[in-house]
Amino acid sequence: MLGIDRIDCAPEDHLQDAGAVFAVFDQQDSGNVSYGVEVDGGRYFVKTAGRPDLDLPHLTHGQRVGLLRNAIRIAHKYPHPALPRLERVIESPHGPMLVYTWVDGELLGVPRDRRDDPASAYHRFRHLPIERVVAALDTIVDVHDLLGRGGEIACDFYDGCLLYNFTTHRLSIMDLDNYRAGPFRNEMGRMFGSTRFMAPEEFVKGAMIDQRTSVFTLGRTVLVLLGDGTMNPEAFRGADGLWSVATRACETEPERRHGNLAEFCAEWRTARSRHRGGI
Ligand SMILES: Nc1ncnc2c1ncn2[C@@H]1O[C@H](COP(=O)(O)OP(=O)(O)O)[C@@H](O)[C@H]1O
Ligand SMILES: [Mg+2]
Repeated sequence: MLGIDRIDCAPEDHLQDAGAVFAVFDQQDSGNVSYGVEVDGGRYFVKTAGRPDLDLPHLTHGQRVGLLRNAIRIAHKYPHPALPRLERVIESPHGPMLVYTWVDGELLGVPRDRRDDPASAYHRFRHLPIERVVAALDTIVDVHDLLGRGGEIACDFYDGCLLYNFTTHRLSIMDLDNYRAGPFRNEMGRMFGSTRFMAPEEFVKGAMIDQRTSVFTLGRTVLVLLGDGTMNPEAFRGADGLWSVATRACETEPERRHGNLAEFCAEWRTARSRHRGGI
């Protein structure tokens, strides 16, 4: 599979021939269809835009292909140990197949009714020793510092982009397909995303979406993973310095937040160095 750049059959047919398909992700809101495939002892995550004759009301096949091309752009421009490596792109009649390294981990985003279930990855992660949670947030900050310096705007980032390995304690971040290369106007009204992580301007048609919007999303990420997702200080497990960074990031008015991702990340790191272990 890894030696080929172009196929003339459907992706699933090629994958069945090339290796052993051990996972299928075909119930995604995105309309994408992805596969876990083992080839010659190596494991890969192969992402496709799904069938060309399936247009979702909010996302046509052409738009899904466009987002996958954007994911290729991002993978090439921002290599990072926490981002699964894009090993190869295979062009198929159904659009590109993105072949990533398979990451062993559990998805932190779970359906709402499972968030309080002690067996869910979301619940187990949020109840880890606080140093583990803060270390995972350091990884999220590190990746967004890199992306932010390239001018990227976070879009549709939420806990469903986080894979955590509870054995190695490594966090991986995936599905950055919707990130944009620069500021833009909200043309949708309510944009794609999980409400818990979205800034007020992501609900307002015509509003400016820039890195201050991304800062809000990261602030919410801190509040969700170290607290209960709200401005309730009682629920927050982190040090006061981390609370201050997160709550400034989550100001309603963009002008009152950090000016961009680099500023947010610098303030996060300063707060971290003051509170060893994040507690
Ligand atoms: N590199 C990877 N290794 C293992 N599993 C992955 C990898 N990337 C994504 N996944 C799993 O596949 C699911 C779908 O991937 P995602 O990129 O979110 O696709 P979509 O655009 O359809 O939402 C994720 O929720 C995650 O569980
Ligand atoms: Mg996804």
